[in-house]
Amino acid sequence: MILSRILRLAALAALVALAVAACKREPTPTDATAPAPRPQAAATSDDYDEHSYAEPDKVAIDDLALDLALDFDARTISGTATYTLDWRDDTATALVLDTRDLTIERAEGEGEGGSWQPLQFELAGRDDLLGSKLTIQAPERNTRIRVAYRTSPAASGLQWLEASMTEGKATPFMFSQSQAIHARSWVPLQDTPRVRYTYSAHVTSPADVMVLMSADNDPAAARDGDYSFRMPQRIPSYLMAIAAGDLVFKPISARAGVWAEPTMVDRAVAEFEDTEKMIATTESLYGPYRWERYDLLILPPSFPYGGMENPRLSFITPTVIVGDKSLVSLIAHELAHSWSGNLVTNSSAKDGWLNEGFTSYVENRIVEALYGKERADMEYVISRNGLKAEIERMSPEEQALAVRPGVVKDPDDSLSAVSYDKGAWFLQFLEERYGRAEFDAFLRGYFDHFAFQSIPTARFVDYAQKHLLDQYPGKVTREELEAWLYEPGIPASAPQVLSRNFGVVDSARLGWLGSGTVPPAAITDDWSTQEWVHFLEGLPQTLSIEQLSQLDTAYGFTGTPNGEIAQRWYPLVVRSGYLQAYPAIADFVRGIGRRKLIMPTYQALVATEAGLAFAKEQLEAARPGYHPITTGSVEKLIAEAKPAPGSGMPAVPAGVDPAEPKPDDADAADAEGGSSDAAEEAPAIPAADGDPTRPAPNGT
Ligand code: BES
Ligand code: ZN
Repeated sequence: MILSRILRLAALAALVALAVAACKREPTPTDATAPAPRPQAAATSDDYDEHSYAEPDKVAIDDLALDLALDFDARTISGTATYTLDWRDDTATALVLDTRDLTIERAEGEGEGGSWQPLQFELAGRDDLLGSKLTIQAPERNTRIRVAYRTSPAASGLQWLEASMTEGKATPFMFSQSQAIHARSWVPLQDTPRVRYTYSAHVTSPADVMVLMSADNDPAAARDGDYSFRMPQRIPSYLMAIAAGDLVFKPISARAGVWAEPTMVDRAVAEFEDTEKMIATTESLYGPYRWERYDLLILPPSFPYGGMENPRLSFITPTVIVGDKSLVSLIAHELAHSWSGNLVTNSSAKDGWLNEGFTSYVENRIVEALYGKERADMEYVISRNGLKAEIERMSPEEQALAVRPGVVKDPDDSLSAVSYDKGAWFLQFLEERYGRAEFDAFLRGYFDHFAFQSIPTARFVDYAQKHLLDQYPGKVTREELEAWLYEPGIPASAPQVLSRNFGVVDSARLGWLGSGTVPPAAITDDWSTQEWVHFLEGLPQTLSIEQLSQLDTAYGFTGTPNGEIAQRWYPLVVRSGYLQAYPAIADFVRGIGRRKLIMPTYQALVATEAGLAFAKEQLEAARPGYHPITTGSVEKLIAEAKPAPGSGMPAVPAGVDPAEPKPDDADAADAEGGSSDAAEEAPAIPAADGDPTRPAPNGT
C-alpha cells in the first residue's frame, strides 16, 4: 500500500516536471539521442508487455484513422495517423507511442470546435530491439490526437519489390509483416497486443496498383489508386496489414477467395479450393466466424513466413502451392487464428502459446475433419519430432509454455516449437482426458467468453480451473496443468501419436539403408509430402555421395519445387559434401525468403569454412530481394558462425552460380567467397527461376 502510494507520488512528480519542461519549449521535437530505458517487467502484472513503451493503463487507443500515400520510388509511406483516445488514468497527460525508424513531422491535438493545435513531442533515441519511444504531451487530454509522419525505406515491417521481382514483371509490389513488433515501423502505435482498437484508412497509390488491408477489402473495388478501408472489429496492432501490387481477385465461395498476381490466381484457387469447407468445419466446432469475409493473399516468394493471420486477409507464401493440396494445413492454421489469436489474443509475447498452441491444435482438428485422421497424425508426428529435437537445444526456462518475463528477448524468435507443438500437445492431452465432446464445448465457451480480448495465461488457467478441473473432478490435477504450463520438457502424461503410413516409410528407409535397393515406385508413388519429409528426417546425419546420388536419381530431390522437401534434403546434402547440388541450393536460398525453409540449409552451410563463404555469397546475391526479417536472420547466423577451422568439404567448385556463370567468374565461388561481380549479376529472388509453385515431379 505504502509502496504504491510512493510510486504514485513519484510518477506525479515526474509528470509535473515534464509538463513544466514542455511549457518552456516550442512544440518541436527535442533531439534526444539516447534510447528510452527498456520497460521493466512489473512482477505483479501478468499482462505486462516488456516489448512496448506504451502505457495503456494511462491512455489507450480506441480507434485509429490513417490517411496515407504510398510512394514506390521513394519506398515510403507518408501521411497522418489520428487516434481517438480513452484516457484511463485521471492524472495522465501524455500519450506514449512505439515507433521504429519513423520521421515524425508533427503532433496535434483536436481542441474545442474541431481546430487542431500543435502538441509538444519527444522522440527518444533508437533501441535496436524496441525502436524509439515517442512521447506526446497532451495537457488537455485531447480525445483526438494526430501525428504526421513518414516511414524509412528500410522499415523493418515493409518490403518494397521492384517490378522485375514480381511474377508479372510490370508492376511493383509492397507488403507489410507487422508481427511481432514491426507495425511500429510503418505506423506510430501502442504496439502491444494488450491494446485493441478499430481502424479505418484512406490510401493513395499509383493508379495501376491495387491496395489491400487487413480490413473490408471489396472484391469489386475499382482499381484507381484511391482506396478506403474499415476494420470495425477491435484488433491488436500486430494485425495491421497492407499490401499493394498487381493483384486480382477470384472467389472460392461467397465469403472466401484469393487475391494474387494474375498468373498465380488460378493455381492458388485450385490449391485452396477447400477453404470454404475449412471455415464451415471450424464454425461447427467453435462457433461462428466473426470477421465476415475470409480471403487469402498470395505474396511473392520473399515473404518471410509461411502465413500470417491478418484478419479477413491471411497473407500466404506461394511455396505451399505444390499442386496436390498436401501443404494446405497452412491455410487451416491461418484460418484457425480467426478464433485463437485474432478473437482471443495473447496479451504479450511471453504467452505466445495462447495464440500459436491453440491454433496448431485447431489446425490439426481441421485437417482431421477434411483429410482424415491418418493425415492429421502424420502432421502431428512430424511436428513433434521437430519439437523433441528443438527442445534439446533450449534452456529449461525456454521450454515452459508460459515463459517468465525476460525470457523472450526478441519476439520474432518466439516462433519456437514449444509454443506451437507443445501447446497443441497440451490441448490434445486435455481433449483426451475430458473427452472430445466436452473439450470441444469448453473451447467454444473459451472463445466466446474472451472474444475480442487480450489475455495472459493466468486468465486461461482460471477459466480452465472453473470449466474443466472443477466441473469434471478427478480427470486432471492442478499439478498436471501447471507442469504443462510452467515446467520444462514434455510431461510423461502426454498422449502418444503413431502414424500407420510412417511405419511403411520407416521400413522402406531401413530396407534401403540395409540393402542398397531404393524403395520401389510401387510403394513411393502414393507418398505425399508428409511421407517424403518423414523419409528424409529419418536418414542418418550424413550419407555417402553414392547413396545421395542414388536417391537423387530415383526421386529427383535436387531442384525439387517442394520447399518442405528441399528444407530437409539440402542440409543433408551440405553435411555430406554432395557438390552437384550446389547450383540448386543457390537457386533455392536465393529464390525463397520463407525463413523456416531456408534457415536449416544456411545453418548446415555455416558449419564449414567453405560453406560459410558460399552462404555469404548467396546472401549478397539475394540481399536486394530478401525481406528485412530474412536478411536479419541470415546475417545473425553468419555473424555468429563458428566453422571448424579448415573444415569440411572441399572448396565449392567454380561455375555453381546459377545465374549464367561467366568463364572468368571462378573466383566468385572460391572458398574465400564474396565476389561483388557475382552479387551484382545474380537475380535476387527470381520469381520465375526455381518456381516453387510448379507441380512437383514424382509426387513430391
Ligand atoms: N502468426 C504466425 C507468424 C508469426 C509468429 C510471425 C510470430 C511473427 C512472430 C503465423 O500464424 C504462423 O504461425 N505461421 C507459420 C505457419 C505454420 C506453423 C503452419 C509459418 O509461417 O511457418
Ligand atoms: Zn500461427
